[in-house]
Amino acid sequence: MVEDAVETMRFWNSLARDEDKDQDAIGAPGSPRFVLPWFSGLVKPGSRVLDIGVGYGRFAIPLSHRRKVWVVGFDISDSMLARAWANSGGMVELVRGDAHWLPFRGGSFDAAYSIATLYYLARWDRVIREVSRVLKPGGLFVSDFRGFHPRNIVREAMVRLLRALGLSSIWKYSYPHRLTSVGRVVRVLSEKGLVVKNIQKRKYRFSVVSLKSSA
Ligand SMILES: C[S@@+](CC[C@H](N)C(=O)[O-])C[C@H]1O[C@@H](n2cnc3c(N)ncnc32)[C@H](O)[C@@H]1O
Repeated sequence: MVEDAVETMRFWNSLARDEDKDQDAIGAPGSPRFVLPWFSGLVKPGSRVLDIGVGYGRFAIPLSHRRKVWVVGFDISDSMLARAWANSGGMVELVRGDAHWLPFRGGSFDAAYSIATLYYLARWDRVIREVSRVLKPGGLFVSDFRGFHPRNIVREAMVRLLRALGLSSIWKYSYPHRLTSVGRVVRVLSEKGLVVKNIQKRKYRFSVVSLKSSA
């Protein structure tokens, strides 16, 4: 595992095990509307789709129901997966592991996405390399990232200070985010053979839609 994967797993297990509503447990706002539109037109019914960092299935479950695709939900946290399983009614296949090493054959997915997850990983570039490997040529990849917005910078300073003082337990979500720029993400994607099709910028984050090159 990459250096912080065990700590990551413990952190997410602890969030998933508490009694919070699912949206609070995940620590990130959102709704299925955030993901579903990317799939209309680009991913056909019957496609095999990988959700990296599936959490409790907030996107995977509506996607599998509404677009009639087969979603494989992948996550490092067994407690998140247990929650996803309870929510899914068996409509989603769930696999546990570390996204830095995806346990799937090359070219085995038509599409992949990873929401509110890559910015927790120090080596998100490595995950993108793995995504490119497991996608079929022309396959879709969607993910979101945290940019260098002043609010994000202040948050990271606070998280690191609390950790340095041994006080991270006073803030439930005190896990570091890895901030990055649109330029770096586009560069990494293109180095790994993914062509950027669309970038949506919001205040604190941006999402990128790309396709694996067919060449
Ligand atoms: C903020 S949650 C997002 C969950 C879901 N994508 C959503 O938006 O509802 C991040 C998820 O990534 C998972 N995760 C974190 N690091 C991971 C890793 N190295 N490999 C696989 N999953 C990981 C966590 O367990 C957690 O379920």
